[in-house]
Amino acid sequence: MKVLILMGSPRIHGNTAELCKPFMQELEVNQVTVNYIELEKKTIQPCKACYACQDVAGEYGCVHMDDMYEIVDNILWADCIILATPIFSWYCSAKMKAVLDRHYGLNKYYGNCSGCLWEGKKVGIIATHGYEGAYATEPFELGVKRLCEHSNLQYIGLYSVQDEENLASFQTEEAMEGAREFARKVIELLKGKGKRDE
Ligand SMILES: Cc1cc2nc3c(=O)[nH]c(=O)nc-3n(C[C@H](O)[C@H](O)[C@H](O)COP(=O)(O)O)c2cc1C
Repeated sequence: MKVLILMGSPRIHGNTAELCKPFMQELEVNQVTVNYIELEKKTIQPCKACYACQDVAGEYGCVHMDDMYEIVDNILWADCIILATPIFSWYCSAKMKAVLDRHYGLNKYYGNCSGCLWEGKKVGIIATHGYEGAYATEPFELGVKRLCEHSNLQYIGLYSVQDEENLASFQTEEAMEGAREFARKVIELLKGKGKRDE
């Protein structure tokens, strides 16, 4: 079982990273191989909507030769991709948005070739946010759900914690146990058991 965590906060030791720690530890003690990528350290150009990737069959084919190629290799390696992000302006961080836009080369829907290179992979969300629960996370979650439907991915659900006291909010036993529980849910789903969110 292989899980890729894309950690999208510009603060690599901030709230979102803190919440990823117990999640990742629970996966690893259960023999899941985890790759953790800090997007802040990566160069990811914004999609320039040239559609060149749409005419490259069977491979990613983006004209931007940047770190998105490494991220795509990791996406193709993983059984499950976790989008870990702070909520910024009711959506995700800018780096995470750049990654999501640059998914285009994985779906050959608009050019001379066809196919979906990441079909069937599982996708989940870990989010941290200043506002309360669903009020903060719903717009981003809805966007990811739609992207999953569009890309033949399986959306598995979201775990999020509100930032009330900076790092301390994510170090409570409740926050950490929630992250471990989400990890156990991912494992069950990867084993073909458990129920994913709709
Ligand atoms: C530019 C910016 C925009 C934000 N927008 C929102 C928002 O729309 N909704 C929300 O609930 N919190 C918002 N927040 C709060 C962050 O989501 C929250 O503090 C988060 O835990 C930060 O995580 P980090 O330390 O991993 O970056 C925003 C914070 C910043 C810096």
